[in-house]
Amino acid sequence: MADEVRVTTKDKIVEIQMNRPEKRNAINIAMYSAMTGALQQADRDPAVRVIVIKGTNGCFTSGNDLADFLGHPPLEDDNQVLRFLRTLHTTTKPVIASVNGLAVGIGVTMLLHCDLVYAADTASFQLPFVDLGLVPEAASSMLLPRIMGHHRATELLLLGEKFDARLAREIGLVNEAHPAADLAGRVQEKASAIAAKPPASVRLTKALLRREQESVPARMAEEGKYFAQQLKSPEAREAMEAFLQRRKPDFSTFA
Ligand code: COA
Repeated sequence: MADEVRVTTKDKIVEIQMNRPEKRNAINIAMYSAMTGALQQADRDPAVRVIVIKGTNGCFTSGNDLADFLGHPPLEDDNQVLRFLRTLHTTTKPVIASVNGLAVGIGVTMLLHCDLVYAADTASFQLPFVDLGLVPEAASSMLLPRIMGHHRATELLLLGEKFDARLAREIGLVNEAHPAADLAGRVQEKASAIAAKPPASVRLTKALLRREQESVPARMAEEGKYFAQQLKSPEAREAMEAFLQRRKPDFSTFA
């Protein structure tokens, strides 16, 4: 369990790795808690200048652990998922995401709170909240339309279809896409470049850039209410049970 989130520090750079490949790095409650703790510690530590979040080979994360969602749905206002998202959003040091493959659900929405996003050109992205009987989270219902416009955001959030790294770059979700074998090196290069810059200037610049997003916490809380409401719904139960039972969900009887 302790190994499902690995934290390493080298040359002023902290790497937080989601490491549960047998479940496609699905994030369970313990992992959210570990990632929140790692972010807080990195943000407090004066020796740290940059934070990198990554997954394992070919996989960033398949998102929220759906078995956890069925068994222990995070319904409270201050649940571990929201705590992680709020912490990521308020981290004062630059956060770089290294998306080396599949990114689903929160695997995509957390990117909106990272400062730079580099992906493998083979990475795929998907926001299947509606198909799961849920609603968007991480203020993605506000940030995605801002980044790419209403129609494209609606396409991604309502239809929930997979999209590739080329489109992710075109709509501004990803800075650069690289062959998978080059990704780690490229991220290291960028992280080292930032780590060598004057740290107070870097933090202030990040804070100023984030000013545009002052209404993020309110939107996260609003989405969180609907998310919790939907998590308890028969629609979501049907969707998640169908996934775990490897069958197609049936929404035909819902009003
Ligand atoms: N939560 C819980 N378990 C998950 C999971 C998730 N989000 N994603 C994958 N897993 C588990 C599978 O149940 C399976 O477990 P098992 O081997 O014990 O049966 C294992 O991880 C491998 O998944 P599998 O579906 O066989 O891998 P794949 O490579 O064919 O497909 C995905 C990968 C990510 C496309 C597919 O697993 C998927 O769609 N997952 C759900 C994504 C999702 O809806 N996330 C929530 C967003 S809010």
